[in-house]
Amino acid sequence: MSRQPSILITGAGGEIGHGLIDRLFHMSDRPIITLDLNPLEKAIAGQVRKEFVGSILDTQLLERINAEYEVDQVFHLAALLSTRSEFSPALAHKVNVEGTLNLLEFAQKEGESHGRDVLFFYPSSIAAYGLPDDVTKKQAGRVKEDEFNQPTTMYGANKLYCEHLGRYYDRHFRQLSAGPKLGKVDFRCIRFPGLISAATVPSGGTSDYVPEMIHAAAQGQPYACFVRSDARIPFMAMPDAVTAILMLTAANKAKLTRCVYNIGAFAPSAGEVESLVRKAFPVANIVYKLDEKRAGIVDSWPADVDDTAARVDWGLNPQFDLRTAFDEYLVPTIRKRYS
Ligand code: SER
Repeated sequence: MSRQPSILITGAGGEIGHGLIDRLFHMSDRPIITLDLNPLEKAIAGQVRKEFVGSILDTQLLERINAEYEVDQVFHLAALLSTRSEFSPALAHKVNVEGTLNLLEFAQKEGESHGRDVLFFYPSSIAAYGLPDDVTKKQAGRVKEDEFNQPTTMYGANKLYCEHLGRYYDRHFRQLSAGPKLGKVDFRCIRFPGLISAATVPSGGTSDYVPEMIHAAAQGQPYACFVRSDARIPFMAMPDAVTAILMLTAANKAKLTRCVYNIGAFAPSAGEVESLVRKAFPVANIVYKLDEKRAGIVDSWPADVDDTAARVDWGLNPQFDLRTAFDEYLVPTIRKRYS
């Protein structure tokens, strides 16, 4: 139990959570509370004040956290990713949409009880886009936030809708009530590109072919890539993604012209990634074994995104390009991890 202003992270054991917990632990004076279906790995569990093992769909558990802690920052990372969601769309909707609604309600109630706005960070995705065909994808180039919002996946539809839900809680919550603004949620959202971490391998996503290719090669394992070598979407190294979260959540609200921001760093084809993997691990055994349907999802995502708003409003400035991400972050860290 703590009446000290605290941070709640859901889905804390996932890829983004891993990197975020460590950085928040070292820079924030707030204790960190986590909620995840599975117990956290030892290395990050030690950085957490209280670890709840349970579901974001368990409203009784959320009420208990609400009663016991004074949360004023929520990082709601829990979700079923895009490939996984296509196998159980209704479950994905439950977790990704109802779960997010539960957390927005949680944040609103926390804000009502302590009287301050609750910062709510939400990770959206390039999956919120849906480009109809290859010609359009080529012509579209760097896509802006409000273009091509016609996702083809359940996950993408869930993310796009929850962006709107967050904007509602932030700007229009109970707009017909008498008196001053009732909303207590300060909603901030990033549409992430594919993320590549040296510390973890994703599960259930569709941009996974890049991290999977790198981690397989580093372990001397063969890898069959499920997209064509010319498939192209934007990516970012995990440390830059975590820095972006910290920058957006620290930004002066008055400077934010939007609730939802694109971010990007580099946009390689699978073949360009393969070349860098082979350079680092010359005996890498990589083949292409096309999964047309999964590759089709990647094809519906933009080749790159326009992240001008993030650069102007809160100073997005990723440190790693494709080459330095490999040479200075991925290869040395992953080598050490598997040696
Ligand atoms: N990387 C995620 C996925 O592939 C997209 O947000 O599902």
